[in-house]
Amino acid sequence: MPKATQTGLKFELVESPDERESDDIVAAVKSRMESIIRKPDFDLDDLKKAADVLKKVTVDIGGIIPAAPAPFEPELFEYQKRFAMSRARYSGLIGGVRSGKTYAGAVKAIKRALLLPTTGAAVAPTAAMARDVLVPQYAELAAERIIKWNASVGEMTLSNGSKILFRSGDNPERLMGLTLDWFHLDEAAQLPRRVWEVLVNRTISTGGPGFLTTTPRGRNWVWELVRKWESDPDSEVVIAKTSDNPLIDPLEIDRARRQLDPRYFRQQFEASFEAEGLRVYDDFDPDEHVLEETWRIEKDWPTYA
Ligand SMILES: Nc1ncnc2c1ncn2[C@@H]1O[C@H](COP(=O)(O)OP(=O)(O)OP(=O)(O)O)[C@@H](O)[C@H]1O
Ligand SMILES: [Mg+2]
Repeated sequence: MPKATQTGLKFELVESPDERESDDIVAAVKSRMESIIRKPDFDLDDLKKAADVLKKVTVDIGGIIPAAPAPFEPELFEYQKRFAMSRARYSGLIGGVRSGKTYAGAVKAIKRALLLPTTGAAVAPTAAMARDVLVPQYAELAAERIIKWNASVGEMTLSNGSKILFRSGDNPERLMGLTLDWFHLDEAAQLPRRVWEVLVNRTISTGGPGFLTTTPRGRNWVWELVRKWESDPDSEVVIAKTSDNPLIDPLEIDRARRQLDPRYFRQQFEASFEAEGLRVYDDFDPDEHVLEETWRIEKDWPTYA
């Protein structure tokens, strides 16, 4: 019979021929488990460690510990699969609203996280979007593989020890201190290019993949990036329309088409990088064309009236 001695959170197993000692072990480990469960934010990992000791003394612990999860393989639509399975260093799913962008991004991220113990970041345009969109989607998909969730710092720990940090991109400099094995930038087109640049920087030392999921927003930096990716062997882009998601009622899409300006419809539902209608210059991009220094008009420049 094995014997367990408890030091802090650690249990050590040693061989012991005495049956009674095993009863003591079971009692000690069960009481340890109860004290873990009583904590308001108990760590499932600690609980599992305690339960592992019980498993070794072959005692039925009755439904407290979930069975080993099945392989993580949620069903994806074909275009989501292409994006999620892409081995490119940088990749993007450019999709219409409700086309399944966040879902596919979360699957890709969780797959990566479950591969090896790593640290990645899931980034949304604002803290509210990270909390209300990303965290629930990741939590729904990772489900029983989550062993710890720390809401105050936005950190999810998976069963293999991987950490997923949930962050907002509205202050890119705050992402500067991180070292990341991967990142997922959701609704990237709502953020400035700087966020992408900072995140790419944070993965330079690990060589990890970076991916974005977004609906287009005019011909901004995402459009430029995607155009570059089309001829870059390190990158891959997948484009999806809202109507590609079989869960979306086509009548709803038709209804939206009738209500919306055609260009806006194409952008939002067909993932088209539309030059914005009200602009004199279609390629205008505030990141590139708005100067921080003042612009002086020299006297000797020609003028046209
Ligand atoms: N492969 C899938 N299997 C089952 N349901 C899916 C799948 N992909 C997406 N969905 C569902 O379709 C809906 C839209 O997905 P999701 O929220 O990922 O789309 P989105 O493009 O990010 O939407 P939004 O434009 O609102 O951000 C959600 O209810 C989601 O659960
Ligand atoms: Mg989304």
